[in-house]
Amino acid sequence: MDTRTLAADQPIGVFDSGMGGLTVLRALRAAMPREDFVYLGDTARLPYGTKTAATVQRYALQAAGRLVTLGVKAIVVACNTASATALPAVEAQFPDVPVFGVVEPGAAAAAAHGGTVALLATEGTVRGGAYQRALMRRGVRMVRARAAPLLVALAEEPSAAQHIQAAIIGDYLHGLVQSADTLLLGCTHFPVFVQQIEAQLAGRAVVVDSATTTAAEVAANIAPRAHEDRGEIVLMATDGADRFRRIGARFLGEPIHRVELVDV
Ligand code: DGL
Repeated sequence: MDTRTLAADQPIGVFDSGMGGLTVLRALRAAMPREDFVYLGDTARLPYGTKTAATVQRYALQAAGRLVTLGVKAIVVACNTASATALPAVEAQFPDVPVFGVVEPGAAAAAAHGGTVALLATEGTVRGGAYQRALMRRGVRMVRARAAPLLVALAEEPSAAQHIQAAIIGDYLHGLVQSADTLLLGCTHFPVFVQQIEAQLAGRAVVVDSATTTAAEVAANIAPRAHEDRGEIVLMATDGADRFRRIGARFLGEPIHRVELVDV
């Protein structure tokens, strides 16, 4: 086993297809404020959600490989599409590094509410069926799963008029939660719309996402950093560092000062 990559003081690597995974990084930081994080957003190849499983797997292996070269002590696959499609491949390729996905924690969060579940996710995540299987294993019934690709673009367009946002969200919710008790947000980008979604649901279903449960699972399973001071984050993107900095702040919930442009 490579002890260098697993040293407790090494950073935790997080990757996503773009900046949406910063919602997961935000939850990770809240759960583990002393940890250092290295985040890689593959903005050059976003979206993953409309790509074939083979392509997403290839991209995910390259992104994870880039993090491993930086000596991370664990990898968090923040992207739901990559988690749903490529987690076993990443685990097999990097057996010495603990790998965490968001699908199992997301299913656990939904299952904790009991009842039936409806899913909003990307095309690839819905098609792959990983959430459906994870819920079934927990004895939970999924009543509907719907791809909501426009919400990805919308989340990256904060200037979109309120009525346009409301119309798109309303269209995706239409008919989705009639018979579901829980709405599971199976995409990194969707948590930015929680308030609008909840307003439109008006109490008909509980909204959950995987960020908090993923963070709790990672926190419970890594060797913690020994230092008392607050950890640092390094943000990397494969394209559009300026846009990442500007729009990513919406997902991270704090200003972003520096984004490094990298190749994978
Ligand atoms: N990060 C992706 C996910 O959570 C959404 C954006 C994309 O399609 O790449 O599925």
